Parts: sequence; structure tokens; C-alpha cells
Amino acid sequence: MSRVVVVGSANLDLGVAVPHLPTPGETVLGDEVAARPGGKGSNQAVAARRLGADTLFFAAVGDDRFGADVRAALAAEGLPPDHLTTVAGIATGVALIVVDTAGENTVVVAPGANARLTDDALAALPATLSSDAVLVLQLEIPLATCLAAARHARDAGARVVLNAAPLPDPVPPTMATLLRHVDVLVVNEGEALRLAGVPTTDWAALAAGLRTHGPAACVITLGERGAVHADAVGVTAHAAFPVDAVDTTGAGDSFVGALAASLADGQSLPEAVHRGCAAGALATTRMGAQSALPTRADLDRFRATYSEASHA
Ligand code: RIB
Ligand code: NA
Repeated sequence: MSRVVVVGSANLDLGVAVPHLPTPGETVLGDEVAARPGGKGSNQAVAARRLGADTLFFAAVGDDRFGADVRAALAAEGLPPDHLTTVAGIATGVALIVVDTAGENTVVVAPGANARLTDDALAALPATLSSDAVLVLQLEIPLATCLAAARHARDAGARVVLNAAPLPDPVPPTMATLLRHVDVLVVNEGEALRLAGVPTTDWAALAAGLRTHGPAACVITLGERGAVHADAVGVTAHAAFPVDAVDTTGAGDSFVGALAASLADGQSLPEAVHRGCAAGALATTRMGAQSALPTRADLDRFRATYSEASHA
């Protein structure tokens, strides 16, 4: 099994379940608050690790209690702490997450130390990358750091997976440069539309169109409608795995982590996207983001049950 290297954010997620999401100016009484490790980078690293990939994680936390909690959680997942930077005098990233009874959410992220993850923290990155490694990036750290990491991957001949989330509004000009260093772009519908800058709901055409921005392959995740991917072979639609969703937080991270683990394992892109869809669906059946990510056994069991059901 080859390596997955994630460069990205680590947050402490403060989540609360509510009967309905508040509208501006409204106060809603929720359940008990749950504090859980999160952040798109951390979630994607843990997702790949739980599925058995040899995973390394480059991130920054603050020198506060949340930073210590995040470090402990990553260590418990078997992710080596070697590439975690502690930024003095800065708070660890925090995400405020509200989830309603339909499993829909709103998320506000205070980046804290994640905004201080500069290319200085990537000194050890080149030595961790080889031509069979997969580098995974998201956009909760500075874009310049993502670009520096992607350049290291290019130099090493490693593949680059970019999950362009959260996509800044407006899209900064540097995105065009970053996309030229990306092998597999993973976006949701909203991100795909804003990156392409064309109004359409033809997701197959959009995925194919985004390849002209640089990535050899583009995957658009469509939530409960599955996913579509475009590569040099053509465009493929993937059906969703039907589940009863309780909390969609972390579904995208579960998808990306599983996709990266599969690619590092030598699987084809269609197979990796299929596994991503299964892992994403499973993550919606449990509360929380990182806490909901499946293990390899969970995923194999789920896929077996699903294929039995679909052949019954
Ligand atoms: O993608 C889910 C993640 O987004 C949460 O864990 C939260 O930390 C935010 O970064
Ligand atoms: Na979840």
C-alpha cells in the first residue's frame, strides 16, 4: 500500500443538534454541545488512515487546550505527530457546526493556526513523497501553501488530489495556477459551478469542462444523487448508496479520504470514486464528521450488504 500525504487543516468541531437551522436574528435552543476533532485536512487524513492507507498529515494547531486535544485524537488514530506544527500565541482552528433533524448543517470556521500553516512547515514534505504517493489538499489553509505542496508533489512525480473546499468567493486568481498542478479535482455542485463560471446543471459536461482548467480528472460529488467523474476516457456517472442520513457533515471528507486511499492502493479512478461514494454515504449515517468516518471493515461490510441488496 503506497502513501497518502495530506496537507491541510485541523479543527476542533463544536457541534450542536437543533430542531431547525436558525434564520438570521433567530435564537434556537439545541441539544448538548459535542466537541470533536475535525477540519477537512484532519478528516481526510483520518479517513484514509482508517481505510488502511499509510498516511502522513501536515497541519498546524495553536498552543491551547484544543490543540492538545487535536494532537491526542490524531495520535489515537495512528497518525504520526511529526508534521504537526504548534503555533505559539494562536488559537487552534474551531468549527461551529449546527445540524438539523434532516441532517442538514451550517458550518462556520475560525481558521486560527490553520491560517499560519506556511510553506516553512513543508520542509520535510519532499522527503515523504515518491512517484506512487498521493498528495491530498483542501482549501482551509493558505492557497500559497497548497501551491507550494503541489509543486513538491509535481517534482516527486506524486499525484495531487485537490478538494477545492471551501472555495473562496470570489475565486482568487492563484486558483488557476493551483489547478494546473492538480491530477484529480474533487468538488461539489456549488464549487464546480463557481470554478467553471458557467450556469448549468449538466454535471457531466461540467466535469469534462473543468478538465480544461488543468486536472487530468474531475469528480463532482452530487450528495444523495451520487457522483460523476470525467477523465481522458470519458464521463462516468456513479449511483449513490441509499442511506438514512442523520448528519451530512464530513461526507465529502470521507469521500476524498477513501478516493485517495484507493488511488494509493493502485485502484483505478472509477473504482476509487465508487469507494468514495460508499464511504461518503456511510459517514452521513452517524453524527459528527471525523467520528463518523468508516473503517475498512465498516466499508467492506457496507458494500457487501449493498451489492446483495441491489442483486436481490
Ligand atoms: O468538512 C467538514 C469539516 O469542515 C468539519 O470537520 C469542520 O471542521 C469544517 O472544517
Ligand atoms: Na456525519
